[in-house]
Amino acid sequence: MTVTIVGSQLGDEGKGALVDIWGGDADVVVRYQGGDNAGHTVVRDGNEYKLSLVPSGAVRGKVGILGNGCVVNPETLFDELDTLREKGLDPDVRIARRAHAILPYHRVLDGIEEEVKSDSDLAAGTTKRGIGPTYEDKAGRRGIRIGDMLDPEVLRDRLEYVVPQKRDLAEEIYGLDIANSEHADAFDVDALFETYNEYGRRFREESMTVNCGDFLGNRLDDGDELLFEGAQGTSIDIDHGIYPYVTSSNPTAGGAAVGTGVGPTVIGQGEVVGIVKAYLSRVGTGPLPTELDGNETEEELADFIREKGGEFGTVTGRPRRIGWLDIPMLRHAARANGFTGIAVNHIDVLAGLDEVKVGHAYELDGEEIETMPATTERWGDCEPVLKSFEPWPEVDWAAVAEEGYEAIPANAREYLEYVSREVGAPIYAIGVGPGREETVVRANPFDSQ
Ligand code: GDP
Ligand code: IMO
Ligand code: MG
Repeated sequence: MTVTIVGSQLGDEGKGALVDIWGGDADVVVRYQGGDNAGHTVVRDGNEYKLSLVPSGAVRGKVGILGNGCVVNPETLFDELDTLREKGLDPDVRIARRAHAILPYHRVLDGIEEEVKSDSDLAAGTTKRGIGPTYEDKAGRRGIRIGDMLDPEVLRDRLEYVVPQKRDLAEEIYGLDIANSEHADAFDVDALFETYNEYGRRFREESMTVNCGDFLGNRLDDGDELLFEGAQGTSIDIDHGIYPYVTSSNPTAGGAAVGTGVGPTVIGQGEVVGIVKAYLSRVGTGPLPTELDGNETEEELADFIREKGGEFGTVTGRPRRIGWLDIPMLRHAARANGFTGIAVNHIDVLAGLDEVKVGHAYELDGEEIETMPATTERWGDCEPVLKSFEPWPEVDWAAVAEEGYEAIPANAREYLEYVSREVGAPIYAIGVGPGREETVVRANPFDSQ
């Protein structure tokens, strides 16, 4: 009935590709957290779609839902929908009335706060989309929800309460001269009302909003299949990740319940599939024990992987940091999410190296440990205990994808089977290239229920 797709590491594991593949068997594809900080790539029929807010299933003509756990920037949403329509698609996207809206002042404050934090090494290297400040307002019970935008009186009341506080914060605490900055409209009640009331009108007229839990509950009652599309990844989860270098939501599987209004017992009866990148890549800041940055040879290897894997942020274009696969991180993810299966992507990128390594465990204070410490400072103190694998050659990956699992070079299969054993979950798919057809699919999680 439900399949939940979750990032197992630091985001950008290639979730979009698997959501596209398995989304074919879903009726509804649902995002349950995050906002336009995500960057999901779907390559179909030679066309590449970069989606930051619209669920990846929209490329397949599925109903796409942005659940109540999401934070929605209406400007990004309408832009993305227009771009998809220009490409000849007809996306059907509905937004939970309980989801929170990102306002222009959230983006401005995200930028300022990152700047301030950078003096003390606390900056997370955010995408500056206003994600953190919007979730702060949600928790502070001063947020503006999508449902509030449908009623002009409610919208104005909410803005009149919150905007003066944001002005004070920007001016008094952060010293921004709003009137003489390019951000004057971002802190102006009338300007904000005009823009967001217009978005609200569009939501109303195009019947784009739903009571998410009811909507999905009814679809389940009708026998529909739901696919929950996680954004980001377990190690940047606000609770289970490397705080404070995290995003402000729960990408872990539990988020699929609270972020949509579908009960955890329903989600728990379904499949939870962890998406794993065969190495690590990271756009943000913070420690990274298996990072390839120790010496010139490692840096050259990181450059090679970065170029070959196209490791530049989808949203911001930033070059990503590169490291070996971190197995304690995956063990942590398997437990926090309860994986029933995994998909391992990018094994083509590691082909042709002299040696492939993984961080099998950590050494901390002279002891060997197998899972991640609960504080990021302690994690930063960990030295990886590396394990070497025989390399595998560069092959015709398109042909491998066509022939199936046995055509994957034996050493790569050994690597995959090791990962599967350590995580305690079977491998449902292996990514051998960016295209939809460049995936070896061994199981369809919708079939196993
Ligand atoms: P997401 O955020 O998890 O959906 O991942 P992104 O789309 O941000 O980043 C993954 C990138 O890797 C995209 O450019 C994909 O097209 C590409 N990709 C996905 N799977 C594979 C794979 O198995 N091999 C290679 N070489 N690229 C892949
Ligand atoms: P997808 O869904 C990788 C990172 C940012 C930063 C931290 C906080 O494509 O896997 P935020 O803007 O969310 O407040 O930034 O989280 N980050 C991601 N890294 N993939 C993502 O999404 C990310 N979304 C946020 O780089 O370190
Ligand atoms: Mg991404």
